[in-house]
Amino acid sequence: KPRVLSGIQPTAGSFHLGNYLGAVRQWVALQETHDAFYMVVDLHAITLPQDPKDLRANTRLAAAQLLAAGLDPDRCTLFVQSHVPEHAQLAWVMNCLTGFGEASRMTQFKDKAAKQGADRASVGLFTYPILQVADILLYHADEVPVGEDQRQHVELTRDLADRFNGRFGETFTSPKPYILKETAKIYDLQDPAVKMSKSAASPKGVVSLLDDPKTTAKKVKSAVTDTDTVIRFDRENKPGVSNLLTIHSTLTGTPVAELEREYEGKMYGALKTDLAEIMVAFVTPFRERTQQYLEDTETLDSILAKGAEKARAVAAETLALAYDRVGFLPAK
Ligand code: TYM
Repeated sequence: KPRVLSGIQPTAGSFHLGNYLGAVRQWVALQETHDAFYMVVDLHAITLPQDPKDLRANTRLAAAQLLAAGLDPDRCTLFVQSHVPEHAQLAWVMNCLTGFGEASRMTQFKDKAAKQGADRASVGLFTYPILQVADILLYHADEVPVGEDQRQHVELTRDLADRFNGRFGETFTSPKPYILKETAKIYDLQDPAVKMSKSAASPKGVVSLLDDPKTTAKKVKSAVTDTDTVIRFDRENKPGVSNLLTIHSTLTGTPVAELEREYEGKMYGALKTDLAEIMVAFVTPFRERTQQYLEDTETLDSILAKGAEKARAVAAETLALAYDRVGFLPAK
């Protein structure tokens, strides 16, 4: 079976619709056909300041949401990044193979550093993509299911895998991004020019999956559209409507062309009312299942412990090989 690996940050508390449609939904599907490794990336989370209590709670919350979304610990390996120390260890080796300029060109770093202010942005934030490289290479992942915003980090992974292999001999698998065109980028409901993001200026355009379903319905119904009246997919000229069509289409499995026909002659309000209903039907059981997993932290923690054990078996072997290739003297 080909292997996939991906990760999600625990920092946001609730996942948003972009996380789900852009990534997590694919993770659930891929566990059927692939040898799948999924993790909650707490090491990445601390590249921005975190309250320790919140971080711990949000790590469990992230795992609970992944299970609620449909990850099955019998069909995939679900774990917490910091439980597998090899991630930080391989990241160091990769740091030493990455050019300073190369790391400086990572657009997500540039965006986040600009928001933080140059003096407050940590060195960890700077090397964040290189930790992600280590995450992926440790498992010899063939594919990495992510949203469009992570494409550059997967490209960096390919570059560094090739560089390591060229210098030290064939060691790592060069992974491909697994990005579905339709859902690669879900947009903010209030500003469909920007991607839906937990760091959005206002929460009004961000559908948090753990919101009260009434809030979700309200957000959908007040989504920004345009002054035209036709319900048609046109990313360029009708970004708001196109975003709603994408969300509708993905959640119901109805092709966009069919939706266009269905809504011919209807008003935007009709689309929004239907989509609000679809969203509520989706988030209501999701919320309940998440709550159930959170109520039994013993079971949750034991799922994560088992996942870490499985992950470590793979990661330790890869790290040992990489250490050997680099020329580290074995400790004996
Ligand atoms: P994170 O936690 O920011 O996001 C998790 C996943 O959600 C996707 N995503 C979106 N997709 C479509 N539209 C959106 N508006 C949207 N917003 C977020 C992201 O692309 C991502 O797939 N660096 C990663 C975590 C990570 C990782 C890894 C991923 C760490 N190590 C190894 C893959 C492999 C991140 O911060 O994702």
